[in-house]
Amino acid sequence: MDLSMSEKTYFKQCVSELLCSEQVRMMDTFIQHADVSCLDHCLSVAYTSFWMSRRLGISVDRRSMIRGALLHDFFLYDWHKKSNRKGLHGFTHPRTALENAQHQFQLNEREKDIILRHMWPLTPIPPKYRESFLVSFADKFCSVMETLRLRRPGHVTV
Ligand SMILES: [Fe+2]
Ligand SMILES: [Fe+2]
Repeated sequence: MDLSMSEKTYFKQCVSELLCSEQVRMMDTFIQHADVSCLDHCLSVAYTSFWMSRRLGISVDRRSMIRGALLHDFFLYDWHKKSNRKGLHGFTHPRTALENAQHQFQLNEREKDIILRHMWPLTPIPPKYRESFLVSFADKFCSVMETLRLRRPGHVTV
């Protein structure tokens, strides 16, 4: 799953803007699957979405897709621990991630849709944009790879 040098440079530029935020970097302190942190997971999903769009020749708003993917699990809590959060994590975390992201960044409609609809079809409303479908698919793919420990932490370096 290699990107060309120029694609890698572009990817790094897009994620670096978001990684300036201490809150975004805090995702590295929460585990998502197996031993992979939320930040590593989000980087993997962003990288995989971008790689798929390039290799399959799917025309996308690349910057919005990478940014939305990096913020799709920006919920900032340990979902493995029981707490007094209302609702089931699988259903509620896209909205929490969107609210956190909107506190930190100005998001466009694509970026919002990517974050809010990434759990489809578990959540009932389907994504509106092809960028959101790609991220939703990449999220499922990366989640399986991480849970089966076929992808190690730090798989994507920036
Ligand atoms: Fe998620
Ligand atoms: Fe995810």
